[in-house]
Formats: sequence, C-alpha cells, structure tokens
Amino acid sequence: MTVAPPSGRRSIDVHPAWLPAEVFRAIGSRRVLVSGDGLLVDTVHAETRTACARFGGSVTRLSIDGDADLLLALTGSTRADLDGDLGDEGYTLGRAGGRTTVTADAPVGLLYGLFHVARLGESAFHGDIATQVHRPAIRRRMLDHWDNVDVHPVMGQVERGYAGGSIFWRDGAITDDLDRVRAYARLLAASGVNALTINNVNVGRTEARLLTDRLADVATFADIFRPYGIRMHLCVTFAAPMVLGGLATADPHDEAVRDWWAATTAQVYRAVPDFGGYVVKADSEGQPGPFAYGRSHADGANLLADALAPHGGVVHWRAFVYNHRRDWRDRSTDRARAAYDHFAPLDGQFRDNAIVQVKYGPVDFQPREPVSPVIAAMPATRLAVELQVTQEYTGQQRHVCYLAPLWSEILGFRFDGDSLEADGDADRDLGASVAAIAARGGTLAAVSNVGDDPFWCGHPLAQANLYAFGRLGWDPTADPAALLDEWIDLTFPAGSVSDPVQLRQTLHAIMDDSWRTYERYTAPLGVGWMVNPSDHYGPAVDGYEYSQWGTYHFADRDGVGVDRTRATGTGYAGQYPKPWSDVYESLADCPDELLLFFHHVPYGHVLHSGSTVIQHIYDTHFAGADEAVAMRDRWRDVADAGLDPALYARVADRLDEQVRSAREWRDQINTYFFRKSGVPDALGRRIH
Ligand code: GCU
Repeated sequence: MTVAPPSGRRSIDVHPAWLPAEVFRAIGSRRVLVSGDGLLVDTVHAETRTACARFGGSVTRLSIDGDADLLLALTGSTRADLDGDLGDEGYTLGRAGGRTTVTADAPVGLLYGLFHVARLGESAFHGDIATQVHRPAIRRRMLDHWDNVDVHPVMGQVERGYAGGSIFWRDGAITDDLDRVRAYARLLAASGVNALTINNVNVGRTEARLLTDRLADVATFADIFRPYGIRMHLCVTFAAPMVLGGLATADPHDEAVRDWWAATTAQVYRAVPDFGGYVVKADSEGQPGPFAYGRSHADGANLLADALAPHGGVVHWRAFVYNHRRDWRDRSTDRARAAYDHFAPLDGQFRDNAIVQVKYGPVDFQPREPVSPVIAAMPATRLAVELQVTQEYTGQQRHVCYLAPLWSEILGFRFDGDSLEADGDADRDLGASVAAIAARGGTLAAVSNVGDDPFWCGHPLAQANLYAFGRLGWDPTADPAALLDEWIDLTFPAGSVSDPVQLRQTLHAIMDDSWRTYERYTAPLGVGWMVNPSDHYGPAVDGYEYSQWGTYHFADRDGVGVDRTRATGTGYAGQYPKPWSDVYESLADCPDELLLFFHHVPYGHVLHSGSTVIQHIYDTHFAGADEAVAMRDRWRDVADAGLDPALYARVADRLDEQVRSAREWRDQINTYFFRKSGVPDALGRRIH
C-alpha cells in the first residue's frame, strides 16, 4: 500500500500489515448485499465496494433480497431463531443455500462480521456453515499510546516507543499524514480494538492542552476513528484545573475544581459527542495527584468520574502508584506491595464509571511476574487489566518476542487455583480468571507498540503482538498459536509467497516459544530487572541494585532473590487469596519460574526441575542464546520465499542484533553469578 500524504510530504511505502488487498479477494470477487443504515454500515459498504472494484464482484446497498453470495444485514429479523442478545458489537455468521450471511443488531457488529469473513477467505463461501454467534468477552479493548505532542528531551516523541516517531504528532503539531492514521484505524478494527488514547500517561504542558484549547486535534482523530468503531479517550493531568484553568488548587473536594472539571468535560463532549473518557496516572513517578491535598485515589477518580457521568464517559484511573524515591538501604518497604497497599483498602469507594487500571504484574511489565494481587482484591470495584504491547522490557522490538503466550497465561490465571486452558471456547465460563475480572470491569488495556516506521512496529514480526492483543480482548481463551496462524494467513496471503506451508512452519518455529526464549537469556527465575537503567535495554545486573526505584535482586556470595514471604520477608505473598498466598509463601510449592520473585535462596537450592538454581542459570542462559542463533538461522530458510525484500532484510537485521544481545545477556549473567557464587558450570562451558 502506498499512502499518499495529503500535502507536501514525500510518499512513504507503508506495510499493509494484516490487511493487504489480497485478504479481501474472496469477498471482492462475489456479489455482496449490504443492508442497513448508519456510519458503520457505510464503512462496511465502502470496504466491500473497494474490494469488489478490485476483484470484479458487485455490491448492492439497502436490500436483503436478490441474488447474493454474501449478505451483510443490520437486522434482527434474519436471525429470529437464534438465542441470545448480540449486544453492541456481536454478529452472527452462517451459510446456507449458497449464501453466506452476517447479521448484527448494531452497525459495528456488521463491521466485525465483515472482518471475520475476510479472515475466513474462500472457506467462507463453500458448503454450509451452521450459524454461529460471536460477541466480545471484554467490552472495551483499549490501546494506550504513550505519544508526546512535543518531543520530550529524554523520552522522545513516543515514550518507550521502538518504532520511530508518533503517527499522531510531529514536533508539537498534529500529523499531516492523516491517511496513515486512517489505515491504522482500519487495522485496529480488524483486530478488535475499539478504544484508544493518543497521548502519554505522563502529561506534559502541551499535551495537557488537548483537553481545552487543542481539543480540535482530538476531534480530528475522533472523526477518523469513529467509522471504525473506535472511541477516543484522553490522558489528562490531575493538575489541569491549575495548569489550564488558573485555579489555585486541584483539590477534589474544592467546589471550584469540581465545577471546572464539569464545565471542561461538557466542552469535550460538545466537540466529541462519543468521547470515551479520561485516563489518569496520578501520584506516580512525579505526576500530580490527590495526595497533595490529603485525599485518596478514590476521591481523585470520583472527581473525574462525576464530571464524565452525565455524558456516559468513564475514567481509567491507574493503580501504578509507588514510591520511586526509595532508599535502597531500607529493607522494610517493597515496591511490589505498593499498588495493593494503596488501592485494596479503597475497594467499594469508586463510582460505577471509575475503572481502576492495574498492570498485570505488581512491579512493571517484566517478562515474568506473578499476576498482580490487586486484580483479586477489589471485588466491589471495576478493574481494567493493563498489558504492554510495546516491548519495553521484552526486547524493544529488536528481539522477536511473541507475547500472546504470556498474555494468555495472565488472562487464564485463576485466583481460585485452576488456570484456564487456552482452547478457543469463547462461550465458556471464565470463572475467577483474570479475563473474567477484566470482563466485569469492562476493559483490557495495553500500551501500543506502533510508530511511524514503515512496518508500524519497527520489527515486522512485532505486528503479531498488536494483532493478538485485540483478538485476545475479544476472546481471551483464544489459542496463541492459532492467533499466530491467523496473523500469518492475513499478513502473508497464500498467493503472495512461494511456499506458504514452509513460511508458516518457519514463523511458528521462530515465534511460538520466543517469549520463553527471551526469558531464558535474561533475568532468571522471575527476579526481573537486571536491565540498563533508564533505557531498559540490554543487561546490567546491578544496574538497579542500589537505586531509588525499588527493584532489587539481593544477590550475594551465598544466594539470590527477594524474600517476599509473610514469615521472614516483606509479606507481599500475603496479598494473595488462598491458595496462592500459601503456594507462593512455600519454598517447596512456589513455581520455579517465580522462585526468586518470592524467595531468597542459596545457589545450591534444588528446583522442581531437579536442577540447582546456579546450574539452572547457566543452562538457561546457554540454551537461550543458542535458541536466538537458531531463530536467526531459521529465518534464512525463507530467504527465497518471495517475501517483500525490505521486510526480509529488516527481520534479518534485527535477528542479528538479537543474537548479539542474547550472547551479551548470557555472558554477563553467567559471569556475574559465577563470580558471586564461585560455583563452576557442571558442563564446563565457557564463562568469563
Ligand atoms: C514504566 C515506564 C515509564 C512509564 C511507566 C508507566 O515505568 O518505564 O516510561 O511512564 O511505566 O506505566 O506509567
């Protein structure tokens, strides 16, 4: 796809990601009827019209009669015999008598149904398909962009962005490449994302003004995303009444502050009638918040919730709150405890339209963390679970790290003990799983990995993470390997590569286990961190060990790990309900992969796997670095598969860097622990 910019800028070739024209061949070569009214039905009509113009089919609008191979109908009448409410976004899909039929009660359902037919391709048009009902498990599937309007002196245009600049902002102004934004909206809709923020949770002076005098920018983006069923949300600063409104305080109990938020929010809805709401990072890493006035996070969240309520909006209030100015000598505090300590006591005090947004782990998006106990601790509060698609701590889109297996594990984690298998049974009871709690709260959120890079994500294979996020929000029980198949089929359609079977095998071999490979060559056994401070890329075992950030491994000559038990440690294990509080407390029961998150153990401690901790460190680091080499070699198998040469070369370059970096990790980690412990590798491999 070549996106022609509206004015002035040179044309850039942008990779079509999972929507190359070919994906619509099966639809576009048939007779299509589109029935119904509304903006989103217009989108369905436009999509099918473009496809039919390209592939020789035809589209008729506003009729359910006539000969057609595909009927897309906004009506209840054609599905009178089906049980269940389709809701705002659901649809039915079936095929009988030579016609494939999609019906929906609301227009956006029709769009999701159309993308489903596109995924099926030719198989949507053969034989009979018993009518299926599809609806999302989680109502709001939201991508949070950490994009800055102004280039931040340290964090750049996109905080923790690894794919170039922002697709929304350029040097203080709205982008002039709105076609690119439109293409993005389309991709997101096809993956199932339906909510978006376009500015960083760390809200600077310029970004704050999106709420008031730069509201027109927000309205411009809302107009682009609306036809794809995606609602705009905005990150706002808690100090807005002072920064923008000239008030002397932002105290949530102050009448003038409440009035200011009410009036300002009403203005927002005048500009963007379907505005979704606010996202707030407060009293966290230097952002202002209610603590300055002796108020609680519930007071802060409710202030904004009350301003949004008359308009049907919600506030997502982040639980990522901790003291980032700790004294490392102080062993009495534990960063992992902080979110629970701040928020669990407030359960039940939040308004119905205030959603507490919790990072999946208690610390900060490490490759392996236990699931945050906050998610189980607030049954009387709506919760959102926050994932990170941008690979801040998982290789920064220089390493292949397919994250769907990690997210699937998190979403399937059950606080009552039995984890949920990913088996694609969307209608199954999600029980006490994290997915069920997010479904009740209404939101699965994630930090986006997209920038103005021609491949969207820097690493072309990182597109699969973006795709899988939306699809898991729709169906948290989806199997990560099946989602990868979907992504492969869409991104590399059969006709476009010489040997689709080989490509599929190669991509699975490289990607399926890549998260665990990454885990193997980085910080061991759940202890986390050991990354370079500030940019968070590459190994620095003691990088954070004597810092204010509260992220320590406590390695000494005898052992390593953080004692978070109730009996002798920080007590963090006690924040879980049973059985997990007991499982994590117990050295015997704690799962190997989280051992050093919960326990400080001697290097000779024997894991469930039968290996000692020190030998496990050596073995996994040698194995992980070798696996990175195998990934790079496998990619060479598809050198002549007919892939876009620029894509092939980009992936090859990044795999070279992954191999280099994995070796650096291996050597630093192994050498560090050999020097600390003095224990040699049982296999006598080279340690420096
Ligand atoms: C991490 C990240 C920050 C970000 C923060 C957040 O700490 O490094 O850049 O602002 O998370 O989630 O707010």
